[in-house]
Amino acid sequence: MQVTQPLLYGDLVLWYRLIDPVDDHAEEAAAIQVAIERAVEPRPETLLELGAGAGHNAFHLKRRFRRTLNDLSEAMLGLSRDLTPDCEHELGDMRTLRLGRQFDAVLIHDAIMYLTNEGDVRAAAETAFAHTRPGGAAVFAPDAVRETFQEGSETFSAQDGVRSMRGLDWSMDPDPTDDTFVTEYVFLLREGDVVSLVHDRHIEGLFSIETWRRILMGVGCDVATFKRPVDDHGETDEIFICRRPER
Ligand SMILES: C[S@@+](CC[C@H](N)C(=O)[O-])C[C@H]1O[C@@H](n2cnc3c(N)ncnc32)[C@H](O)[C@@H]1O
Repeated sequence: MQVTQPLLYGDLVLWYRLIDPVDDHAEEAAAIQVAIERAVEPRPETLLELGAGAGHNAFHLKRRFRRTLNDLSEAMLGLSRDLTPDCEHELGDMRTLRLGRQFDAVLIHDAIMYLTNEGDVRAAAETAFAHTRPGGAAVFAPDAVRETFQEGSETFSAQDGVRSMRGLDWSMDPDPTDDTFVTEYVFLLREGDVVSLVHDRHIEGLFSIETWRRILMGVGCDVATFKRPVDDHGETDEIFICRRPER
């Protein structure tokens, strides 16, 4: 299966933490933790995150779970090893990964956005299900679903030592009849007196809530939803938690 990774998860990896600060994940990670604790009996101890990227969620789940982190990008796993050296790291594609063991909980956060057709989402759901023990649960947390997606743009700026950046992202849906949208990123990257301009296109999957439910139930999960915080103003959306039946 071919994957074209955005520059952000390869050549631009040194800039990743400026774009997605670790602290921004604290509130959402807390909501995910509570949802897993409510869904899983006996008390969950082990967590596999598929597409765990730089380990930002995992960092906040540190006190609660023994974590195994997967990603397709060796460069992103390198960032994660620096931040969460106490975690186990596994390189691989979430559509095909098979570790040969099960966990109390599995999480797929925003990495699921990079699966852009139903077959790939189903393959990732099968991976999650295969790694969830009976009575455990898998969380699927897409950034957007068809019903709530809105086109929009944002600017951002950040500094870390000699590196500073100014950026713009612009999410748009050129063809509302297909299962994808596009986020165009433009970065101005400054290291001392050297400035470069980079354009990075992210093609992301966009499915209806009904499609999500059909795929998740299709792999054998009991599907429920829970609210997660999406901004600092008390806004929430709904993401999926899928319990694997005892038998
Ligand atoms: C936005 S980052 C994830 C950040 C993560 N939520 C965190 O807390 O740090 C998205 C990640 O998805 C990974 N990814 C994309 N497609 C993947 C696949 N098929 N299997 C595994 N990882 C994948 C990318 O390499 C990238 O690291």
